[in-house]
Parts: sequence; structure tokens; C-alpha cells
Amino acid sequence: MVEIVPSILSANFARLAEEIARVERGGARILHLDVMDGHFVPNLTIGPPVVESIRKATRLHLDVHLMIENPDRYATLFVEAGANSVSVHYEACRHLDGTLELIRKAGAMAGVVLNPATPVNVLEDILEVADYVLLMSVNPGFGGQKLIPYVLEKVRKLDRMRREKNLALPIEIDGGVHGENLGEVVRAGCDWIVTGSAVFHSPDPEATVREMREIAANATAVRV
Ligand code: DX5
Ligand code: ZN
Repeated sequence: MVEIVPSILSANFARLAEEIARVERGGARILHLDVMDGHFVPNLTIGPPVVESIRKATRLHLDVHLMIENPDRYATLFVEAGANSVSVHYEACRHLDGTLELIRKAGAMAGVVLNPATPVNVLEDILEVADYVLLMSVNPGFGGQKLIPYVLEKVRKLDRMRREKNLALPIEIDGGVHGENLGEVVRAGCDWIVTGSAVFHSPDPEATVREMREIAANATAVRV
């Protein structure tokens, strides 16, 4: 089942509960929360207290994307705050296997994120212990950027890798996805499709999520 996963990065933070309710009405089942520390990426966003407040405002699956240095120090706090899945950047982890274990032990799904320039080959051995993989389709840090086309080839490669290994882990994509390129993104093999500005900068986020879910469902129908 392909999921449209709205990222609140482009939402109105002063009206977050209403914004979340809108995308939930549109059919979203997973919500993407971007955590940035001003070091791993040149931007700052939210920490565990905000995740905790969001947890009280919705029953959606909360998918936390950590764009931070030293994720070992903070990952568990996000699970305790209510995250259902937490992903960490391959580029930020010195002991990736241990970090994934930490997240899983705390009670959430553990995901690995790759920046656009990091090849999917680095996942060869870790793939069987990851619960999902997030491929960045922009350089992380900001919403509203353009999807980098070569990342779709990485998605196809990763899709082949997981089939060869008989693994069913979801492939997530993040950055620059909108109604026009969504079909291609789904056909490449993505399952969780993060979308920020395309949803929250649209006049009607509820309708936009609904439309995107429909486009994704039609594209899935032709996926082999
Ligand atoms: C970027 C973030 C994304 C961001 C995507 O670093 O990880 O989740 O919200 O936004 P759009 O869909 O606008 O590219
Ligand atoms: Zn993200």
C-alpha cells in the first residue's frame, strides 16, 4: 500500500493541530516530522516536546526524520515522545547497526536515510536489519526544493536489492514530490512518499492529499 506522507515542515506551526486534521481527513495515515539541529543540516526545527504535543493531537503514525549529528544521544527521546518510526542518516552514524537497535529496543521502527550522493550499495548488508529506508531526493535542510532525477534510479536499484533478498521493507522518498512527478516516483518503487510544500502550500491540503492518494493508487496498479 503506497502512502502519501505529509511533512509538517511546510505547515503553519501556529495552527499545527488544524493542519494535521486536514491531511488526516484527506486520507493520510503517516505524518512526517523533520528534526534538524543546525549542524548536520543548516536549519533548525523541532525537538521532543513538539513531538509529544503532536502525539496528543493525533493518532496518525508519527514518522520522525532525524537530520542531526549524534543521533544516538536523542533517538530514544523521540520514541518516548511518541514517534512510531525514527530514521537516522547513514552519514551521521558511526555505529549504524547499534543505532537501529537502540531505536527498535525503544519501541519504534528503525529507518536508514541516505543523502542523494550516498550510493544504495552501502545498504547491502544492513538492509535485513532495517525496518525501512528513506532515500533523500533533495539535499536535506529545506522544503520546496526540486527532486534530483538520478535518485529515481537509486530507488529502482534498491527495489531490486530488496526483491533479491526477499525483503518487504518500505522505501520512503523525501523531497520535491508533487502531483506531476508522483506517478513516476511510485512506479520507480517508492512506498512512503513524503510531501511537504505540495500539500501545505496548496489552497486545500485535504483535497491535495486525496488527489495524491488517487494518483499513487493508479500508478501502483501499473507497477510490476
Ligand atoms: C527536507 C525535509 C523534507 C521536506 C520536504 O530536508 O526532509 O521532509 O519537508 O519538503 P518538500 O516536499 O517541499 O520538498
Ligand atoms: Zn524529511
